[in-house]
Amino acid sequence: MSSVPNPLSRTRSEVFRQLRRELYDEEDFRQVPHIFVIMGASGDLAKKKIYPTLWWLFKDKLLPEETYFVGFARSRLTMEDIRTASLPYMKVKDGDSERLSAFFSRNSYLSGRYTEADSFIQLQSHLDSLAPGAAANHLFYLALPPSVYHEVTNNIRHHCMSEEGWNRVIVEKPFGRDLQSSEELSAHISSLFTEDQIYRIDHYLGKEMVQNLMVLRFGNRIFGPIWNRESVACVVLTFKEPFGTQGRGGYFDDFGIIRDVMQNHLLQMLTLVAMEKPTSTDPDDVRDEKVKVLKCIAPLALSDVVLGQYVGNSEGEGEAKLGYQDDSTVPKGSCTATFATAVLYVHNERWEGVPFVLRCGKALNERKAEVRLQFTDVPGDIFSSQCQRNELVVRVQPDEAIYAKMMSKKPGMYFSTEETELDLTYRSRYKDVKLPDAYERLILDVFGGNQMHFVRSDELREAWRIFTPILHQIEGEKIQPIPYTYGSRGPKEADELLKRVGFHYGGTYKWVDPHAV
Ligand code: NDP
Ligand code: BG6
Repeated sequence: MSSVPNPLSRTRSEVFRQLRRELYDEEDFRQVPHIFVIMGASGDLAKKKIYPTLWWLFKDKLLPEETYFVGFARSRLTMEDIRTASLPYMKVKDGDSERLSAFFSRNSYLSGRYTEADSFIQLQSHLDSLAPGAAANHLFYLALPPSVYHEVTNNIRHHCMSEEGWNRVIVEKPFGRDLQSSEELSAHISSLFTEDQIYRIDHYLGKEMVQNLMVLRFGNRIFGPIWNRESVACVVLTFKEPFGTQGRGGYFDDFGIIRDVMQNHLLQMLTLVAMEKPTSTDPDDVRDEKVKVLKCIAPLALSDVVLGQYVGNSEGEGEAKLGYQDDSTVPKGSCTATFATAVLYVHNERWEGVPFVLRCGKALNERKAEVRLQFTDVPGDIFSSQCQRNELVVRVQPDEAIYAKMMSKKPGMYFSTEETELDLTYRSRYKDVKLPDAYERLILDVFGGNQMHFVRSDELREAWRIFTPILHQIEGEKIQPIPYTYGSRGPKEADELLKRVGFHYGGTYKWVDPHAV
């Protein structure tokens, strides 16, 4: 019996074919060798994100046909070691084995020293040997600690550039620790590469719903007229994680939650919510508008911030019993914040006076990232204060959704009001669509040469300008964060700050998940 083609997989491969057409010139796709070099191939990011992402893209045939992957790090490893370390994160399915072998046959690994020119000369001859005589394009992913960025970028520039093909360098956060160190790093990198060769990654810009913010705002008539200070009372951008530092406390302690999440992921979301309509979707038109928003924001003041640090929950289980300072890699007495709520104002005609509240924290009650616009009260109330404010929520994760909280007549023989929602839950509306991981989207963008979802140097400078004074103050004055219990919503002072700037929490909204009924 002949097998019936699976309509779903056909649809997926059609989608991928179309994507390939959009991304690449046909000839480049088929004939030009591309070499993706993972600097720091032995590390955590490489095994958890980069190798799995490259595998998914390779599996779906989204990478140019002749693409090679080269890992580079100090450790003396074999490709087998890399494979063993990455496999648990690669979500390999039954039936993938042939394609998986093909993927690993395109992979190689070289150990060398980041500071030694000789290692990079060897790397270059290895790259040349993969595509002899061809004008290969080179992509370098810096999955490295910032301490070696200077040397590595120098060595790449002087020894590993493709002469005839193009070269692109993907730089991971943290981009410095403050304005000065970031400027130094930027100046160094810009002295080696042109801006169009540099891809500064903020993986939140690769998330489905973050990218959707632009379409939602500028592809709909209904939102434009109310997206301003006349109608919006408050914008709340939230990032919550239900786990602590999980042994990464040593790294985290050096940065803290403001550098780890707020100054980048949340601020990027803010710019997409607040920016004016760009003249086009050209990457620089979009980033020009984002920079303008940042330029309208004054440096954050300590009076507009609440800092927290989690402590163990004696009634919790496992890791929840442990506080931040119980992590053996965290220095005792550390003042590093694992939670922060901060209020920023965009001083322009559209947003003057509207608080943008950025909230982020580890070891909280749930995993959630969202954008919430709370609208002002309806003027001239005729419903005896029964109405709650409207809210538009774009839930980035988990379970992507857009919902508008609104008042409606209570169904039936009543003439009273009821809180309800217009609900676009992705898993119900788009049952067969697999949403790609943020890194998949972004790495594909680097292959395709699209910088829209990457951070430009002037965006970075403005972001650090806003946060550097307070970071210096917090560290200089050793400001003590407020303790909050592992698994809670964070310090109550954060809710008080929200209330102070005008956010209304009614506590009356009840959502009934249609899937749970
Ligand atoms: P809520 O009224 O529960 O919460 C609204 C906001 O108030 C949140 O930002 C919340 O913060 C904040 N808040 C909660 N408690 C307090 C407090 N004590 N003081 C001050 N602020 C507070 O409405 P939601 O929009 O969050 O919806 C409730 C639930 O229903 C959510 O889990 C949501 O995901 C779900 N829902 C799902 C939909 C879908 O899947 N399509 C559609 C609609 C709702 P915090 O984030 O810290 O809790
Ligand atoms: C990273 C932070 O940038 O983002 C981590 O360094 C955080 O601390 C992570 O856990 C969250 O990413 P995601 O995609 O899981 O929300």
